[in-house]
Amino acid sequence: MKKRVDLEKEKLLAAREAVKLIENNMIVGLGTGSTAYYTILEIGQRVKEGLKIKAIATSRQTEELAASLKIDLIDINSMDAIDVTIDGADEFTSDLLMIKGGGGALFREKIVLSLTTKKIIIADSSKKVEKLGKFKVPVETVPFSSRYVLSQIASIGGNGEIRKKEGKVFVTDQGNCIVDADFGLIHDPESLAKNLNQIEGVLAHGLFIGLADKIIMGNGDDTAVFE
Ligand code: 5RP
Repeated sequence: MKKRVDLEKEKLLAAREAVKLIENNMIVGLGTGSTAYYTILEIGQRVKEGLKIKAIATSRQTEELAASLKIDLIDINSMDAIDVTIDGADEFTSDLLMIKGGGGALFREKIVLSLTTKKIIIADSSKKVEKLGKFKVPVETVPFSSRYVLSQIASIGGNGEIRKKEGKVFVTDQGNCIVDADFGLIHDPESLAKNLNQIEGVLAHGLFIGLADKIIMGNGDDTAVFE
């Protein structure tokens, strides 16, 4: 009989491995989502045991969790660089391309990773794909331009829809909406990223290219590393 994969355990194992990279006095970027959650709990435990760090959250949700664990949070605009960030992904390939934004925090996640020296992504094994695109690409959009953005996405071969949560339009921490765009399997992520960047009204999209140095994937009872 095929063994059932315990994805929660894989998330935890990946998070534990990643947290080992954190040292005293570092500035640490905290990701968002159910995998990053385990990281924040682990960091909270180490802080309780005496670890001294300053942290930057990628969402209000993460900020609240970190504050509840007495992790010292600082303003992103109060420093020049972040030593290490640990965040999750919705899809990744072995050559470190990713789709992020399933939790709607893509804009802050992109800025935080861009400012980070050691960009660490953690994931369970269900997130690894040969080619990106089964997961729709989240596109954070200023609400005034949402209809325009939908039409521009269609003009570059995508099929977008505005994300809803519990029947209401999902609103990001910046007060924007998310268009989830289906491009089918993405054969040229770099050129799609460029095309999305050129659409007026798009704040950020979920194609993360060059934003991971190392991906730690939970793999059954162990972890596997891509770098
Ligand atoms: C949030 C993200 C998350 O990192 C991504 O959605 C993965 O989440 P999870 O660990 O819950 O699967 O990009 O915007």
